[in-house]
Amino acid sequence: MSELLIAKNVTKAFEGLVAVNKANIVVKENTFTMLIGPNGSGKTTLINCCTGILKPTAGNVYFNGTDITGWKPHQIYGVGFVRSFQIPLPFVGLTVLDNVLGAMRNPGEMPFKATSKRAWIEEEEKNMERAMEILAKVGLSERWDMPSSSLGAAQLKLLEVAKGLSSGAKMIALDEPIGGVDPASAHEILSHVAELKKEGLTFFVVEHRIDIAAPFADYVYAMDLGTIISEGTPDKVLNDPKVIEVYLGKGVGSTCSE
Ligand SMILES: Nc1ncnc2c1ncn2[C@@H]1O[C@H](COP(=O)(O)OP(=O)(O)O)[C@@H](O)[C@H]1O
Ligand SMILES: [Mg+2]
Repeated sequence: MSELLIAKNVTKAFEGLVAVNKANIVVKENTFTMLIGPNGSGKTTLINCCTGILKPTAGNVYFNGTDITGWKPHQIYGVGFVRSFQIPLPFVGLTVLDNVLGAMRNPGEMPFKATSKRAWIEEEEKNMERAMEILAKVGLSERWDMPSSSLGAAQLKLLEVAKGLSSGAKMIALDEPIGGVDPASAHEILSHVAELKKEGLTFFVVEHRIDIAAPFADYVYAMDLGTIISEGTPDKVLNDPKVIEVYLGKGVGSTCSE
């Protein structure tokens, strides 16, 4: 299995505060790799360094064999690594289907094709079919013509995954995809994500609620105070005394109760 994302000694300092300290991460292709840690441990900062939102102070990030350190988010998106956010405001008025169509690359924009109406229509039809297939994969088929503003928190997150998928991404980074949703919906979101691995997709997921997310993970990294303190199978990491200590120490509850 090839190493799709490699973060090598990635460090990010904010005026004296070292939010991420020499982090080493490898995300293998076609895995669900999870990054856990208490609030403020540096998870979002690390994912932002990997996806171009932030420039690392030191260290390197490689994606699919290319050094992408310091690249802009749209360049990283261009090579198939997508970072999901909540749906930006201008898009909440669009339908669920239009959101997915909008995320597709070059939707009918090839200049030479624009001269041939039939080719253009065929392209549009193909895109539409593919968008509906994608919506089925995330369980949103029945909502295709609803405005995305009508979706609940869990469905909005699934729409984000659908947009990533329609953009042709190889890898999708999700920052707390089940944050703020009830346990049943959280399970549904993660089941869909796990199912999408069959499409060849790779997921790098930051999660705070490890009890719900861990069963879906192939590999887990745990962070505390900017440092990776443990890595391995979910079982190994969740039972690592260092991990248990930081979770209990921060008073965020045990690793195995909701
Ligand atoms: N833009 C920023 N400027 C200054 N400090 C920041 C910034 N972003 C994050 N931090 C700090 O970096 C640390 C890690 O934050 P973050 O990566 O958001 O943690 P997590 O996602 O694990 O909750 C925190 O102490 C936070 O206050
Ligand atoms: Mg965060």
